Amino acid sequence: MKMSEDKIKITPAKGRPMLHWVGKNPLDYVKGFPAQLVELFDPLNNAKIPEVPSYEDLKDNWHNLLFHGDNKDVLATLLEKGFRGKIDLIYIDPPFRSGADYVRKVELRGLKNLGWIEEGTSSILQQTMYFDIWNNDNYLQFMYERLMLLKELLSENGNIFIHLDQAVGHYVKVIADEIFGDNFLGEIVWYRYNKIPDKTKKLFFKMHDTILHYAKNRREHFFQSILSPTEKKIKRKKMKKIEGRIATIDENIEYMQELLLTRSVIDFIPDINVGSSKERVGFKTQKPEELLNIIISSCCPKNSIVLDCFIGSGTTARVAQKLGRRWIGCDINKGAIQLASKSLQKIINEQIKKEETKYSTFAIYRVNDYDLKILQTEAIELAVQHIGIQRTRTDPFFDGYLGKSLVKITDFNHPLTLLDLQLIQNELNIRREEDRNITIVCFGKELSVDPWIEEWNKKHPVNKIHIIELKTDKKYGSFLIRKPDEAKVKIERIDKTKANAIIENFISPTIVERLNMDNRLFKVKIPDFRCMIDTVLIDTNYDGKVFHIVYSDVPKKKDDLVRGGYEIEIPRSKTKIAVKIIDMLGEEVLVAEEV
Ligand SMILES: C[S@@+](CC[C@H](N)C(=O)[O-])C[C@H]1O[C@@H](n2cnc3c(N)ncnc32)[C@H](O)[C@@H]1O
Repeated sequence: MKMSEDKIKITPAKGRPMLHWVGKNPLDYVKGFPAQLVELFDPLNNAKIPEVPSYEDLKDNWHNLLFHGDNKDVLATLLEKGFRGKIDLIYIDPPFRSGADYVRKVELRGLKNLGWIEEGTSSILQQTMYFDIWNNDNYLQFMYERLMLLKELLSENGNIFIHLDQAVGHYVKVIADEIFGDNFLGEIVWYRYNKIPDKTKKLFFKMHDTILHYAKNRREHFFQSILSPTEKKIKRKKMKKIEGRIATIDENIEYMQELLLTRSVIDFIPDINVGSSKERVGFKTQKPEELLNIIISSCCPKNSIVLDCFIGSGTTARVAQKLGRRWIGCDINKGAIQLASKSLQKIINEQIKKEETKYSTFAIYRVNDYDLKILQTEAIELAVQHIGIQRTRTDPFFDGYLGKSLVKITDFNHPLTLLDLQLIQNELNIRREEDRNITIVCFGKELSVDPWIEEWNKKHPVNKIHIIELKTDKKYGSFLIRKPDEAKVKIERIDKTKANAIIENFISPTIVERLNMDNRLFKVKIPDFRCMIDTVLIDTNYDGKVFHIVYSDVPKKKDDLVRGGYEIEIPRSKTKIAVKIIDMLGEEVLVAEEV
């Protein structure tokens, strides 16, 4: 996978006025990264997948793309791979509620059907999906860089929508004005009419989001007025009520024209996270498909390319898929990619049954491997909850407070070393005024650490250092250590073209441990190991590198279990069958066998 050494030039932003923040730095050049193909959903078996997707390779033989990685790296990679000016519609819904944690609720499967729990009391495991940890300056720089890259990717007729709210909307508007010049087209207000106001708050309760609309070129952008399905329904209702009689053709035309004007206030789409919407996939910031339906139908011609580089649960891709547009998605979070992938597989399978789809294949690529980083973020958040650390979001070095002392949480992937201590010492040298003690949270420590600390504490009456070693600490001892999932799968050839794959046992130690932590009064007994399994995927000809999803078992309802046993068609010649099991926390285990 050789990548070119060339840097990719980014056009300077020319617009006025300009917003300034500490550390503002325009993006002059970026560099692409290798994209590693990790999973392929190709139910019709017709994809010709190049290792690294370039626009040239894909343009006449398209498959949709889902990237797991930081979107800065992914967008740079797309530019390098020839996508400059090729994207017709961009919708982004970046994180914006600074300070809030976004949590994905994870439930076990099938407990109700197994008579294990009563309705409404299902045990919920919570897995932190991502944290909005930016302070304002970092956030503005973050958005500045992404918007500059997105502009490069946008086609001459392209539209971009930026979904925000009042927390940062006004800042991002000025940044976008700087980048897109005078190509601002307007602002959509999405009124979340079904949100339940909190009467205890002393303010006008926020019931809306703002979506900024820009074009690459306001004289050439694509736009068509549309009548959304919901509006059609509303219209029918209103006609009956208002008219009380059958409308004349002229009245109808007039009424249609009024409705055809796509309006800037969308007041008829409910927030799907309130109440019980069928659309919900368990992602707190999931947006309604209808909203994307309006944006994509009105601003993106059929077969054109839609990009969402903060794809979350995959809403934009789902709607693009349903509307016959090509799509590219990206998210930094593995759980989000899995949710998106799962929901897209369902839609494509349904489309295939109805012979409706042109774009039935999608591939998942990883750009710049982020797994470790995500685990680290999750681990930190768990440690924070476990110990009761008060998190600070603004300090670039320390992670929070424990009582009066400052807390530094070190990388859990290696034991605490003298180098870590040196970094803390350097930081304290800069902060001469700092008079608080320091608590270091680590997952283990090297032998040389204790004498160093003893020496330090003798010399420093202030800034004394205390260590919490999570693995052994008496007070905080039961901290969770992530152990990989384990599965026993019997894979055997039955005859020339068929094989059996039977999951005989499966355990996710993390799920069991988390359930036990939630239910301290009794030991949790999971009635069926399949309760812990979310999805089973099978590749019948696994090459050891890229997983081609040939069979997928994704139960529609949360009360259904995966089947667990599969009779599958396989090649006549010797082949390797791989079974991938994804648990309810998004972790996966792969078992492969040659038959
Ligand atoms: C508000 S959510 C998007 C929700 C989405 N519109 C939906 O309907 O499900 C924002 C997403 O941006 C992702 N994200 C945050 N920073 C990112 C980055 N640097 N690169 C890629 N994705 C990122 C988060 O993981 C999260 O899934």
